[in-house]
Amino acid sequence: MTVGSTPAILGGAPAVTLDQTAANRWPVLDADDEAAVLEVMRHGDLSNHPVTRRLEDDFRRRLGCRHALAHANGTLGLLAAFHALDLQPGDEVLVPSATFWASVVPMVWVGLVPVFCEIEGERFALDPADVERRITPRTKAIVIVHLWGLPAKVDALLGIARRHGLKVIEDASHALGATSGGVACGRFGDISVFSLQTSKLAAAGEGGVLLTDDDAYMERATCLGDIVRIYELATPANRFAATSFGIKTRMAPLSAAVGRTQLAKLDRHNTRRAANIEALGTRLQALGFDTFPSPPDTTRVYFEHLVKYDPSRFDDLPIDALIAALRAEGCEASGPRYPLVHEQPFFTEGHWRKVARLAPGDHADWRPPQLPATAAVQRNMLRLPTFPWAEPALIDQYAQAFEKIQAHARAIPRPAHA
Ligand SMILES: Cc1ncc(COP(=O)(O)O)c(C=O)c1O
Repeated sequence: MTVGSTPAILGGAPAVTLDQTAANRWPVLDADDEAAVLEVMRHGDLSNHPVTRRLEDDFRRRLGCRHALAHANGTLGLLAAFHALDLQPGDEVLVPSATFWASVVPMVWVGLVPVFCEIEGERFALDPADVERRITPRTKAIVIVHLWGLPAKVDALLGIARRHGLKVIEDASHALGATSGGVACGRFGDISVFSLQTSKLAAAGEGGVLLTDDDAYMERATCLGDIVRIYELATPANRFAATSFGIKTRMAPLSAAVGRTQLAKLDRHNTRRAANIEALGTRLQALGFDTFPSPPDTTRVYFEHLVKYDPSRFDDLPIDALIAALRAEGCEASGPRYPLVHEQPFFTEGHWRKVARLAPGDHADWRPPQLPATAAVQRNMLRLPTFPWAEPALIDQYAQAFEKIQAHARAIPRPAHA
C-alpha cells in the first residue's frame, strides 16, 4: 500500500513512474490524418480544395444546422459572429471574464462594449442572476461559453435572452460533443462558434467553424471575409465580392483535412478522456475534491481537466504547496490556464476604447468591474492532464500520489508567505 509511504517532496519515491508522454499527448495523428493531408497536397490547390466545404458539411450534419462557415481560426469565427449581428457601436454584450480572450475581444473591433459578468461555481459559466442584474437598455447580446467542456446553464441564460430580446452568441469551442437537455452544445446560439485549434477536441491545427440557421447572419459572416463564397451568394450582397468587408477569414484546406479526420474520431476520443478522468475523479472525490462530473441532464466533455481543491481536507496545505508536492510525485499539475480577461491591461489601461472607436463620451464611465464571485470560483482550482490515451495503471499512480500527500499533508512544506 503506497499511501503510507513518504511523499516525494519529503524524500520518498515518486508515485508516478510510468511514462506519460504518450498518455498525455494531444492531438494524436494517425495514418488517416496523414492520408487526408496528402490528398490535399497531391491535389495541389492549397487554398480552395473542397475538403474545407466537406468539413462544413460534417459540422452541419453533426449539429443539424442550416449553415456552417469555416474560418482560419475560432477568433475570426467570433469576429464574424459579432459582425454578423449588425449591432450599433456602443451596444453592450454580456460576457464572462473567465474564458479565453477570444470570447470577448473581437467584439471591440465592431464597436461593441463588453459587460463582464460573474460566473457561478457549478458550471464555471455565466451566473444567470448576475447577468440579469447587469442588463441595461443598451444590452443587445450575450456570449455563452461552456468553459472546459461543462455545459453552461443554458435554459436560464436563454430564458433571460428571450425576455430581454438579446441575441445569443455561443462560444462552444471547448464543448464539441457535449449536450444539455439532449441538445448538442453549438445549437444554442443565434450564432455558434467552435475553435479547431490544436488543443481542441477536434484539432485542425488552426481553424474555426461558425454555425447558424439564419440566412442574414450567414450572409454577413461570409461578406466579412470569405472571398470566394461572396461571389457565390445568390443575393445582392455578392456585390461585395471584389472587396469583402476587409478581412480574410478562409480556412486552409490542409487544416480542414485534419479537422475532418479528427472530427470523425471525436466521440471515441471524448469517451476515452471521460473514462480516464472519471476513474481518477472517483478517487479524488474521496479526498474531498469537487471533480465536476456531468450535471443532471447534460453530457459534459473534458477539453480540460479542472478539479476544485479543499485545503481543509489537507491540513490547510495551500494549493501552491499541493502543486509542488504533486509535481515532486511526477504528476503534471498547475493552476487554471486563462487569466481573467477583465483584469488584463487591454481593459484596465483603456486600450480597448481606441480599438472600439466609440463616439467621444460614449461609455466614458466604463471601468473593469470587481468580480469577487469569479475570483472565488477560480481559487483552489487545480489543472490536471486530460489523459487522452492513459491506461488505468497511470490513473492509479496519480490517485496514489494524491492519497500519499493527503496522508502526510501536515508535514508537507508550506511556502514562506503562507
Ligand atoms: C473559449 C475559446 N474561444 C475561442 C477560442 C479561439 O479559438 P482560436 O484559437 O481557434 O482562434 C479559444 C481558443 O483558442 C477558446 O478557448
